[in-house]
Amino acid sequence: MKIIEIENLSKTFSTTFGKKTVTALNDVNLSVEQGTIFGLLGQNGAGKTTLIKVLLGIVYPTSGSCKMFGEDFTNLHLKKRIGFLPENHKFPNYMTGKEVMTFFGKLSGLENLYLTKRIDEMLELVQMTKWSKSKIKTYSKGMMQRLGLAQAMLNNPDLLFLDEPTDGVDPIGRKEIRNVLLALKEEGKTIFLNSHLLSEVELITDRVAVLHKGKIIREGNVHELTSKKEEYKIVVDADLAYLLDGAIKEKYALQKISSSTYLIHVDESRPMNDFVDHLRGKGVSIKEMAQEKNSLEDVFISLVQAEEKRL
Ligand SMILES: Nc1ncnc2c1ncn2[C@@H]1O[C@H](COP(=O)(O)OP(=O)(O)OP(=O)(O)O)[C@@H](O)[C@H]1O
Ligand SMILES: [Mg+2]
Repeated sequence: MKIIEIENLSKTFSTTFGKKTVTALNDVNLSVEQGTIFGLLGQNGAGKTTLIKVLLGIVYPTSGSCKMFGEDFTNLHLKKRIGFLPENHKFPNYMTGKEVMTFFGKLSGLENLYLTKRIDEMLELVQMTKWSKSKIKTYSKGMMQRLGLAQAMLNNPDLLFLDEPTDGVDPIGRKEIRNVLLALKEEGKTIFLNSHLLSEVELITDRVAVLHKGKIIREGNVHELTSKKEEYKIVVDADLAYLLDGAIKEKYALQKISSSTYLIHVDESRPMNDFVDHLRGKGVSIKEMAQEKNSLEDVFISLVQAEEKRL
């Protein structure tokens, strides 16, 4: 089931008393399946935050439409099913973590008895229980992000919007946040996150879209986007450079990486099976075989560069 369905969404901001306009979103079409983690990637100023703000009803779109939970996204009652962690969020310095949670819980209209229990559960989930009575001014960035995440989860939302959830957080803290997000996904929650930390996104998202100057330039499953369909790495117990005939080496564009590791190219005209049969025929034992991958960062950079050239 699709939780978010965006159709032809555009947003143009007018600045300097309408003299200048900025197109932050340009005909965006996107959908997000229930129970998945969706990553929206893009450079600074690409329009990521604007898209989240439009979906939350904080910013009005110039044109286009969107459905959430199958309904028009402007329906107010849907807000109860949504959680939000804004980018660069700030909580009052003089409050404790628990006071912040109570404040936001009450703003959400949560009933006292439920709220007390929920606050404890959420602080536990993000491993902030022992800091709950400390003032915000003593918190590190990682702790602020974790508290922000707990706050976003207070109303037990089905759909969570997270704008740069791991920004400024150290590697251990990022891993903890990743684990929380994966646990939420296990519970069936849908997570929409904005990030430019691509190695992070690669580890947890099911699908990603790349936004460039307000336009979606690519969308897809992370595995599909990063796999190099025709390149395989193969680890064997023999020196293929000597063992194989020149014609086979040439056909599969065999490339030696180390004494036992090779790169081969396969496609319809040079099937993997034939290569394996050939190795077996020579008595070679195959220890490992895997499709080569690009990092999401490589994919992102080449997409953006190609788009820049096109424009
Ligand atoms: N309220 C506003 N008024 C005018 N222009 C705006 C407004 N909000 C955003 N913009 C412009 O819209 C564009 C997209 O901004 P947005 O904040 O959505 O980008 P972003 O992808 O979230 O960037 P970042 O990675 O830096 O957070 C930018 O050019 C920005 O200057
Ligand atoms: Mg932003």
